[in-house]
Amino acid sequence: MSFATLWESLLPIGRDPVTGGYRRYSWTTADMNCRDWFTATAAERGLAVQPDRDGNLWAWWVAGHTDWPTDDRAVVTGSHLDSVPDGGAFDGPLGVVSAFAAIDMLRDRGFTPARPVAVAAFTEEEGARFGVACLGSRLLTGVIAPEVARDLRDTEGVSLAEAMAAAGAVPDRLGPDDELLSRVGSFIELHIEQGRQLAAQDAVIGIADGIWPHGRWRLDFHGRGDHAGTTALVDRRDPVLSFAATVLAAREVAARHQALTTFGKVAVQPGGVNAIPSAVVAWLDARAPDEQTLNTVVAEIRAAAQRATRDHGVTVTTACESFSPRVELDPDLQARLSSVLARNMIRAPLVATGAGHDAGVLAARVPSAMLFVRNPSGVSHAPSEVAEIADCETGVAALAAVLEELASE
Ligand code: GLV
Ligand code: MN
Ligand code: MN
Repeated sequence: MSFATLWESLLPIGRDPVTGGYRRYSWTTADMNCRDWFTATAAERGLAVQPDRDGNLWAWWVAGHTDWPTDDRAVVTGSHLDSVPDGGAFDGPLGVVSAFAAIDMLRDRGFTPARPVAVAAFTEEEGARFGVACLGSRLLTGVIAPEVARDLRDTEGVSLAEAMAAAGAVPDRLGPDDELLSRVGSFIELHIEQGRQLAAQDAVIGIADGIWPHGRWRLDFHGRGDHAGTTALVDRRDPVLSFAATVLAAREVAARHQALTTFGKVAVQPGGVNAIPSAVVAWLDARAPDEQTLNTVVAEIRAAAQRATRDHGVTVTTACESFSPRVELDPDLQARLSSVLARNMIRAPLVATGAGHDAGVLAARVPSAMLFVRNPSGVSHAPSEVAEIADCETGVAALAAVLEELASE
C-alpha cells in the first residue's frame, strides 16, 4: 500500500475539528482508536500484534513464523501514536506509518528477512496525560517503577491504573520486561524533524546525532484567595505576581546559558476573573546541551522563584516530574545508517535535537538510532507541523533500506 493511502487512514483519528490539532492522549477513546488502527493495519499484513505488559504495541514480521519471534534478535522500528494537546499529525505517527509502509516496500521487492522485524508503538511518549514523557518505554526499560507509574494522575485526578483498567488494559502487569528487550537487536525510530536543520542543508533525510538532556519541573505557588474589588494592593498575597516574575527570570536564565525553558502549562486556582488566585501550578520544561548546564539553569530558576515570592507573602515548592539524561545514539549503528543511505543515494547529515524520543530511552538498553524527515517550517507540537508527502516517501525508502541491511544477516 502506498504511504499516502496508509497515512490518510490514520489522519481523522483524534483530530479536533476546530483547531485541526490532535488530542490523542493515552488510554482515551482517541488513543484506543489509534490502537485499533495499529492492530488492523498489522492484521492486513499478516503481522502478529502483541501488546507488551506496559501497553506498548508490537507487530511482528517473522519470516516463516506467524507468532512470537525466534532467538534471532529483532530489528525493531516504530515510534508513538499519542500527541501533545493540539499536536501536529506527524510527531510520532510518521514513524509508525513509515514502518508499515517500509515493510510493504520490502515485501513488494520480494525481500525475506533473516531475522524478525517488528513495528512498535510506544504509549504516552508525550507525557501529555500523565506528566511523564516516554512513559511506555521508561516502564519497559525499568527507568520508572511500576507502582509510581500506576499512581500518576491526569488533570481530572484519574490515575494511570484507573485509566488503563477503564480501557480494558491490565495495570497490574506494568513493569520492566528484560525478556522482551533481550529479543531486540536494534531499534530505529523514524521521526519528523522538529527544527529546520535539514531544510537549511537542503537535505530530505537526517540521522540523529544525540539528544539534549531535558526534564519537567512542577512549581506550586501558594498565596491567599481574596476579593479583586476590595483588597488593597498592599494587602494581597497574589501568587500570579511571583509566577510572572519567575517566567521572565527563566527566559533570562535560558538566554544566558544557551538553554531552552518553557512554561507551557499553567493552572491558576480557583480561576475566577474577580478573585485574587489562591495558587498557581506551573510546569517548567527545561533543556540544555549538557547536564551540568541544565542543572545550573534549573537551580537558578528555582532560586529566582524563591526570590519572586518574598515581597508577596507567597510560598513556592518545586518538584522534578521527569528527567531524561543526555543520549548519545549508537555510533556503530549511526555509521551503518550513513553508509546504507549513501549507497542508496540518500544524503543524510547528522542532526542534533532537543526533542525527547523513545529511542533515547531504549538507547540505554538496545543499540538505537533515528532517522529524521525534513520539516520545511520546523514547526512541531502544533497543528501546522508538516512534511511533504514526497519527503515522507523518501523517508520510507530510507527506512526500508536500513531494515533490509539490518535484517539481512
Ligand atoms: C517530546 O516530543 C518532547 O521532546 O517533549
Ligand atoms: Mn513530541
Ligand atoms: Mn515524537
